[in-house]
Amino acid sequence: MNNSFLSMIAGAAVLMLTSAAPATYLDPQAPIEERVEDALSRMTLQEKINILHAQSKFSSPGVPRLGIPELWTTDGPHGIRPEVMWDQWEQAEWTSDSCTAFPALTCLAATWNPDVALEYGNAIGEEARYRKKDILLGPGVNICRTPLNGRNFEYMGEDPLLAARMVVPYIKGVQQNGVATCVKHFALNNHEINRHTTNVIVDDRALHEIYLPAFKAAVQQGGTWSIMGSYNLYRDQHVCHNQYLINDILKGDWGFDGVVVSDWGGTHDTDQAIANGLDLEFGTWTDGLSNGASNAYDNYYLAAPYAARIAEGKTDTATLDDKVRRVLRLMFRTNMNLNRPFGSFASPEHSAAARHIAGEGIVMLKNDKATLPLINVRKVAVIGENAIKMMTVGGGSSSLKARYETSPLDGLRSALTGNAEVIYARGYVGDASGEYNGVVTGQDLSDNRSAAELTAEALEIARNADAVIFVGGLNKSAGQDCEDSDRQALELPYGQNELIEALAAVTPRLVVVNISGNPVAMPWADKVGAILQAWYLGSEAGNAIADVLTGAVNPSGKLPMTFPRSLAQVGAHASSESYLGKKRDNEEIFDCEYPESIFVGYRWIDRAGEKPLFPFGHGLSYTTFAYGKPTADSSKMTADGKIIITVPVTNTGKVAGSEVVQLYITDVKSSLPRPVKELKDFSKVNLAPGETADVTFTIDKDALSFYSPEAQAMVAEPGKFKALIGASSADIRSTVNFELL
Ligand code: BGC
Repeated sequence: MNNSFLSMIAGAAVLMLTSAAPATYLDPQAPIEERVEDALSRMTLQEKINILHAQSKFSSPGVPRLGIPELWTTDGPHGIRPEVMWDQWEQAEWTSDSCTAFPALTCLAATWNPDVALEYGNAIGEEARYRKKDILLGPGVNICRTPLNGRNFEYMGEDPLLAARMVVPYIKGVQQNGVATCVKHFALNNHEINRHTTNVIVDDRALHEIYLPAFKAAVQQGGTWSIMGSYNLYRDQHVCHNQYLINDILKGDWGFDGVVVSDWGGTHDTDQAIANGLDLEFGTWTDGLSNGASNAYDNYYLAAPYAARIAEGKTDTATLDDKVRRVLRLMFRTNMNLNRPFGSFASPEHSAAARHIAGEGIVMLKNDKATLPLINVRKVAVIGENAIKMMTVGGGSSSLKARYETSPLDGLRSALTGNAEVIYARGYVGDASGEYNGVVTGQDLSDNRSAAELTAEALEIARNADAVIFVGGLNKSAGQDCEDSDRQALELPYGQNELIEALAAVTPRLVVVNISGNPVAMPWADKVGAILQAWYLGSEAGNAIADVLTGAVNPSGKLPMTFPRSLAQVGAHASSESYLGKKRDNEEIFDCEYPESIFVGYRWIDRAGEKPLFPFGHGLSYTTFAYGKPTADSSKMTADGKIIITVPVTNTGKVAGSEVVQLYITDVKSSLPRPVKELKDFSKVNLAPGETADVTFTIDKDALSFYSPEAQAMVAEPGKFKALIGASSADIRSTVNFELL
């Protein structure tokens, strides 16, 4: 073979490589919308329909002929769910899918720190990316309407502004990894009982002022690439295919260009699914958690029945193309984005992030006579099942297979090694099981002793200790903070109240660490030395709790929801039908009217003029903060103007600490009823002892507006307002009066 022949072959090869320019949809440099149109133009009708519904529990097919990959989703929202079988909920028993369990979203909300939400989003986004997931099913931003809701732990509290502020950086953190967030459950999914058959009846003010703002922020500020329709109905239509909520508001008013994903088993009707905005159907024929027909994917509402409707000429292809465009757009943002990073998984960095987030979200509710931090202690008694129980398994779809989980007892033991002896007693038996979809904790928590025996043992070690840490609360078993069930009562279960009372009678140095995703009643609150609200904290739970107990971390979390004294202080429980609604005579539908309207959480408590157990925004520190006199740059504001308020805050204690300074607005006179005050801004400042920082708030028209049903828009009425600056919703330190002209 001579050289010229060889170079001829090489030249031809180069020509073949260069002349066949890649299809635009395969060109990572081409603008996304061009790639979408190009891919769409090459797809057959059947291929278009195929990508609109699931092919397995958690994936949808791509277009194999065109090299468009499958789309993989994962729960969400606190860690990456273990692999499940293709067509079953049981875990697939992979050995490479044990994740970092991050703290539950209530804990994230309790940090009141958007930078921490970005850290959280980025870390979980990296985990999703490494596990080759394209859509993370979370975060959740349903408003905490009742403390009985079994899923509140997956959400961000009772206040729309707080949830909106925290969800935006979470989304950005996840999506910068080329993984889509799927913000859920849109919308009005506020309790779990009858979740598929509850028809919510809520007035437009509450809808727009309370229940939608965090979703709106997720779309318009966070830029979420997908959103999950919820199980319930609104205006008699299931929300996964709801004309008003999805077509009119989400895609219309808010300009959402992403994908509406059904909740698993949330689709009920082909014609509605086609017409009312659903783009991607999952989990049909299941209840979302357990039962379900096998391999029914071709029978999904957006599968064969959709093709039949088109063949019969009953629906146009423009609607189909809109759905396909949305799914393709999400793919080019995620699994067809060749520039996305590779992610990372169960790394030391993620453990550090989990510990940091957990430590910053723990809320110190009470600390009398410096009960905490634990200093100069020689013997510490730890009591309670939650000191040893793994909490990452259970709770429903957010259940995880964590690479490890540090228990509070182990965390405290390692923190106090060399300084104090730590002794343990169970105290009560709650939920001894530890299994979810085949993931087992491996703990044997069975204990046959009687309550009297367990109490006697606990009192014995409490008497002989110089500090007693009770770790109890709820535990993510059915009815105790768990999907598909609500709690039965606000009270702690398993006789914990009696045990705490008994312990308080034998020791003045009793610390209660409450693990829950919801407020619980604390009839013993006045009798114990200190109370920590510790949420579900994930892999680093024990270390983070020990950090706060020992003072290695100075607590700075604040409550993202009111802790009421009883359900009588909760608007959702105002009447016998206001919580779960009323069953229709001949139909399995529960009409649930929200009579409290906009008066949710502290808005309800304020209006009633009552004192809750612990107010929204409350949380203590090992240091103290003094709020100086605020100054405003003007006392009058024009409709398009703003007022800047500055308040000096000083750390007056002996250790460094962070304070969440909160701004509430009162509308002095309004044509419609308004809450006594509403959170409109907040700022978390870290201060060294003696240090002062100026905290600045900018008030504009948005902060003064309410939803006018007449104008069908947010309006700000001219008149007098008050800016209240406080350390919680019930601890207002100063007031600035101003006027909107
Ligand atoms: C839940 C969703 C979850 C989905 C997939 C449903 O039961 O409501 O939040 O993402 O299952 O596991």
